[in-house]
Amino acid sequence: MKITIIGTGYVGLVSGACLAELGNDVMCLDVDAGKIAGLQRGEIPIYEPGLEPLVKRNVEAGRLHFTTDLAQSVAHGQIQFIAVGTPPDEDGSADLQYVIAAARAIGRYMDDYRLVVDKSTVPVGTAAKVRAAIAEELARRGKVIEFSVVSNPEFLKEGAAVDDFMRPDRVVIGVDDEQAKRIMHSIYAPIQRNHERMIFMDIASAELTKYAANAMLATRISFMNELANLAEAVGADIEHVRQGIGSDARIGYHFLYAGCGYGGACFPKDVSALQQTAHDAGMHLKIIEAVNQVNETQKSRLLDKITRRFGDDLTGKRFAVWGLAFKANTDDMREATSQVVVPGIIARGGTVVAYDPVAISQAKKTFATLQRLEYASSPKAALDGADCLVIVTEWKEFRSPDFDDMKRRLRTPVIIDGRNLYDPALVRSCGLEYSGIGRI
Ligand SMILES: NC(=O)c1ccc[n+]([C@@H]2O[C@H](COP(=O)([O-])OP(=O)(O)OC[C@H]3O[C@@H](n4cnc5c(N)ncnc54)[C@H](O)[C@@H]3O)[C@@H](O)[C@H]2O)c1
Repeated sequence: MKITIIGTGYVGLVSGACLAELGNDVMCLDVDAGKIAGLQRGEIPIYEPGLEPLVKRNVEAGRLHFTTDLAQSVAHGQIQFIAVGTPPDEDGSADLQYVIAAARAIGRYMDDYRLVVDKSTVPVGTAAKVRAAIAEELARRGKVIEFSVVSNPEFLKEGAAVDDFMRPDRVVIGVDDEQAKRIMHSIYAPIQRNHERMIFMDIASAELTKYAANAMLATRISFMNELANLAEAVGADIEHVRQGIGSDARIGYHFLYAGCGYGGACFPKDVSALQQTAHDAGMHLKIIEAVNQVNETQKSRLLDKITRRFGDDLTGKRFAVWGLAFKANTDDMREATSQVVVPGIIARGGTVVAYDPVAISQAKKTFATLQRLEYASSPKAALDGADCLVIVTEWKEFRSPDFDDMKRRLRTPVIIDGRNLYDPALVRSCGLEYSGIGRI
């Protein structure tokens, strides 16, 4: 099949490379000329395990192409995936300008039937807006050409995106015509040989499903974070509580880790957008509102612990920060807790020495204007002469440190752990002060 992907970001590039790997002829379009030029030179703009060889292999096989040329990209694929960003607007709703621009481009250049697949995360009613934008462009050209619009929300996780795309738990398709349904079935047939993974439904339900999934996961995290804070106040250990409830099959272990708040390109904006969808429908989602509020507070939890231990004035104090990405296995720093912790320490007069295995070049852009911020070449190097280690991201390489060596390197042996990586008793037995989230 000939497929075009509009928007070559995390979702677009992974989807494009995976669809090419399945044998399709894929063209990825982006308005960012620098990104496309880099991809054409073989440079992968994001860190995503397994993506680089996948892209390289499919480019070499002639199945994956990159372009900024709209006319060429619309002409290429009978199937046009829209995978552009849907960032939050000022009121928290999803900003659909990029989705609508993509739809208009299709209407402006299409010459025969196109199946338009919306993969971006978009609120209920967007497929209708996409349809209207394409129809308007066709009318402007005086053309009558058939097209279908389908909702196919993406559930991949950054850090495991290639695997998630190739072996998804489910593929949700919102569709209201038989031809589109047939084509969608054939696109995904190769990844569901083992068992049926496609769930067909109406378009509005598919659009809402994506927000429901992210809001549910965010709810579990905020729920555990609130309970962790309670555990700390009453002298219980959230890790025991997690195991105690996770073992209940009705609850399960996933997404029950207390920590220093969720970030990333999806949960914060999708929870806000869902709230706004409810608001537009004359409703107020009380649980969802609380989920966001709890998360905002939780992101400051590490700073609270720092100021409680070192005071409000951090002048002359040096903080080693391990982890800048919003979670492990990605260089994505969008809405990362590091964006609260690092500037927060610096604003109080402290110095930060940060280490992250892959996000440092991203951090140099994000934190370009910050003073008293240094980057270390290894986790150990960050510790030298620091008054405190603050753990923000749960990278595997942080999990089994040499605590004796850590104690020797730190000027004051204090660990504030936003990801509950260690056994508090073990750390303390090595002569270090330790404060996790909801641990005793
Ligand atoms: N990142 C994730 O883990 C993830 C997972 C599931 C769903 N989503 C959703 O997928 C969508 C894309 O997310 P992302 O993280 O890949 O975003 P991203 O910011 O990484 O990529 C979006 C890309 O679209 C390009 N773009 C914008 N307007 C364009 C246009 N008119 N034509 C061509 N290209 C255009 C941008 O230049 C950018 O490269 C969002 O709606 C997001 O919520 C993201």
